[in-house]
Amino acid sequence: MSAQLDRGLPPFEASGMRLPDLTEVMAVERRAYPVPWTHGNFVDSLAAGYPAEVLRGPRAELLGYWVAMPGVDELHLLNITVASAWQGRGLAVVMLDRLVNACRQRGLTQLWLEVRVSNERARDVYLRYGFVEVGRRRAYYPVVQGPREDALLMSLPVAAV
Ligand SMILES: CC(C)(COP(=O)(O)OP(=O)(O)OC[C@H]1O[C@@H](n2cnc3c(N)ncnc32)[C@H](O)[C@@H]1OP(=O)(O)O)[C@@H](O)C(=O)NCCC(=O)NCCS
Repeated sequence: MSAQLDRGLPPFEASGMRLPDLTEVMAVERRAYPVPWTHGNFVDSLAAGYPAEVLRGPRAELLGYWVAMPGVDELHLLNITVASAWQGRGLAVVMLDRLVNACRQRGLTQLWLEVRVSNERARDVYLRYGFVEVGRRRAYYPVVQGPREDALLMSLPVAAV
């Protein structure tokens, strides 16, 4: 079967991220980012009780995951990643929908995130979803070599979705 013929949303199951997920999560994370989160970053987020989910496909393969930090009125998206083999099938929107629902369940009204200025694919996904750019954080992200990269701060009122 050609991958070209089947680029639709795969069947998936979502569940809360747990420590045993982290071996696979780290494998996806390392492929997805030049400067990936560490295993410890995920462990700390889970220990803090931050909302986090994994999406798994029909053979239980890891399709993607997200981690967010709750604030007073808002949820701050810290990490959203689709495994490279599953990108381009709409899974980012599935996870953003689930984040919006996580906000609603907690009575939170705003979703925030930062994105690298150079990450045009992600920026485009967020803009199309309804996020607006509300600021810029100078030298926010580490890079492999050279000066740190700016982040765009984006926000979405949950009522707007
Ligand atoms: C950004 C990201 C979350 C988007 O998730 P996704 O499920 O692939 O999103 P979509 O399926 O909506 O695809 C978004 C666009 O990127 C394109 N795209 C996705 N994967 C692609 C690939 N491997 N090569 C080329 N284009 C690709 C899609 O065609 C789509 O564009 P279109 O709507 O004009 O066709 C995902 O690409 C990812 O995890 N990237 C690496 C980690 C990352 O950057 N996370 C965000 C940090 S802020």
